[in-house]
Amino acid sequence: MAATDVERFSNEEKRNLALGGHVGFDSLPDQLVSKSVTQGFSFNILCVGETGIGKSTLMNTLFNTTFETEEASHYESAVRLRPRTYDLQESNVHLKLTIVDAVGFGDQINKDESYRPIVEYIDTQFENYLQEELKIRRSLFNYHDTRIHVCLYFITPTGHSLKSLDLVTMKKLDSKVNIIPIIAKADTISKSELHKFKIKIMSELVSNGVQIYQFPTDDEAVAEINSVMNAHLPFAVVGSTEEVKVGNKLVRARQYPWGVVQVENESHCDFVKLREMLIRVNMEDLREQTHTRHYELYRRCKLEEMGFKDTDPDSQPFSLQETYETKRKEFLGELQRKEEEMRQMFVNKVKETEAELKEKERELHEKFEHLKRIHQEEKRKVEEKRKELEDEMNAFNRRKVAVETLQSQSLQATSQQPLRKDKDKKN
Ligand code: GTP
Ligand code: MG
Repeated sequence: MAATDVERFSNEEKRNLALGGHVGFDSLPDQLVSKSVTQGFSFNILCVGETGIGKSTLMNTLFNTTFETEEASHYESAVRLRPRTYDLQESNVHLKLTIVDAVGFGDQINKDESYRPIVEYIDTQFENYLQEELKIRRSLFNYHDTRIHVCLYFITPTGHSLKSLDLVTMKKLDSKVNIIPIIAKADTISKSELHKFKIKIMSELVSNGVQIYQFPTDDEAVAEINSVMNAHLPFAVVGSTEEVKVGNKLVRARQYPWGVVQVENESHCDFVKLREMLIRVNMEDLREQTHTRHYELYRRCKLEEMGFKDTDPDSQPFSLQETYETKRKEFLGELQRKEEEMRQMFVNKVKETEAELKEKERELHEKFEHLKRIHQEEKRKVEEKRKELEDEMNAFNRRKVAVETLQSQSLQATSQQPLRKDKDKKN
């Protein structure tokens, strides 16, 4: 079509033309199918339920294979998520299946934080996808999507009611993942008890505002079966990899002294219903809901948290560029403010240190003056003492000289006396 034709076409009203012959765009759906088939699919299941509830057995039964399993101990100090990925093939369709086990769920004495690692795991997968989406060079085409498409929540077949741990966990997860609640080991509960248990569970979920996944009823092709199945929730399932001969057929079943529970017999349990709904009818819807509802919510909250928005406060459209500019300005302003704050802090610190040093100098000076005074005082005292001692010494010397003179005089006197006596005698 020439450019002028395109312009004319866009200016004119759309006209419906009947094709004169076969053109071929009716093969578009086939092209899509063939592209998807070559690309393969990924499907990620999260199994949440207490240790030994039958998670691994059910997965093996669902996919009719034996996945590697590792029994969990009851001594895990916290819940831990263990993902395992398998490449499956049915006819020419490749499926990258990831089964994530919440290991140690319900085994801790304090279960307040049991939901947290699960929520964090789901968020991490959303975050990884978002990071890939935000890259300049995206490779979403061959990106291994690990976002959880469905959470199978295994309910213990007590026949009573849901545990608070179940309610809290499901409530925390319901805005992040499609939850399908299932009653595990349904062969351990009687038919009438099971009926009452199902009603009780549903009413408890409703009264606690827990949103579980509803099979979609907007597509005519599956509306009927899906609405019937919605009424059967939660599915009561039995898992087994054991094969038992019933009549002349080998079926998967659990054998008891009193009889055989056939996994795929709809009058025995809802396993077939779960398999139909999960794998055959609604797998694509689960993938779609994950992308359009749960991931979208995560993405919106995350981008809003980062400051991105579609409209400004006056409800005017706000582009990414504008958000970037505003954020940049905010950031630079903040940086300047921080810089000024740091500078001020530095100046104050210098002033403080200066004042401290001055104070120290003054103190030292005072100390020096004091010591000088003491020294002078002591010097004066020593001088006085020295003078006193000198005086004393002089006085002593004078006395000594006087005594010596006196002594010599008296000596002279005594030496002259006998001479006179002799003279007297002669006379
Ligand atoms: P961890 O991974 O260790 O938490 O256990 P799990 O939840 O994977 O349970 P697993 O499938 O290993 O099964 C534990 C036990 O329960 C095994 O002895 C199974 O045979 C039994 N079991 C599994 N499914 C059912 C069931 O539907 N009914 C009954 N009665 N027993 C079951
Ligand atoms: Mg297991």
